Amino acid sequence: MMPTVLQEELAVSHLLSVLRDKRTSAAEFVARTETLATLLIARALDLAPSEEAVVDTPLEPAHIRRIIERDVVGVPILRAGMGMERAFLRLIPSAPVHHIGVRRDEATFEPNYYYDSLPEDLSGKTAIILDPMLATGGSAIFTAKRLSALNPDRIVFCGIIGAPEGVRRLTSEFPDMAVFLGALDERLDENAYIRPGLGDAGDRHYGTT
Ligand code: PRP
Ligand code: URA
Repeated sequence: MMPTVLQEELAVSHLLSVLRDKRTSAAEFVARTETLATLLIARALDLAPSEEAVVDTPLEPAHIRRIIERDVVGVPILRAGMGMERAFLRLIPSAPVHHIGVRRDEATFEPNYYYDSLPEDLSGKTAIILDPMLATGGSAIFTAKRLSALNPDRIVFCGIIGAPEGVRRLTSEFPDMAVFLGALDERLDENAYIRPGLGDAGDRHYGTT
């Protein structure tokens, strides 16, 4: 499936301009990431399980469609994925969040798994992976494989910036997965960093550069 890339939307492009800027402080980086993640996740929630309902307004019943929040799970990839968690929970506060810890080895670029709080079974659920950066795709693919084994109805990936290499790998391993990105950048460099990118998302979020 082709990724949905929102960079043509001016608000998205504007937020990306702040995130990419090396002068942006960690506090500002966190705040703008959350806003951009809200736009991305809102779009991804078009794929969430939903139902028709009738709610009583103060004036009369209104027929509406609503998300079945408990049937959506957020899966932030630690650490940088934490930057998208509050956006997810502001949109659907009753949805469970299960973290996974995957750290990329900066010599081999292979994903190293160190933690997760995933349940034994995700059947009936739509799992939304949250990670700002899709570089080689290793961390996202590892996470998607781990989730697949738990039998969810659907897996969706939501990220701020992707590299063509990572998008290709992820969508060829998981052809049915919907991928939502703020931007699709030019390339990976020799250190597997996305160019032009925004640098190391986890370090910029936590001020650990
Ligand atoms: C970053 C990012 C992704 C991963 C992307 O995390 O948040 O998880 O790299 O790279 P990949 O597509 O090549 O796997 P990192 O491993 O640096 O950990 P951190 O979030 O703790 O800084
Ligand atoms: N991880 C990041 O945080 N940034 C990149 O450009 C690549 C991997």
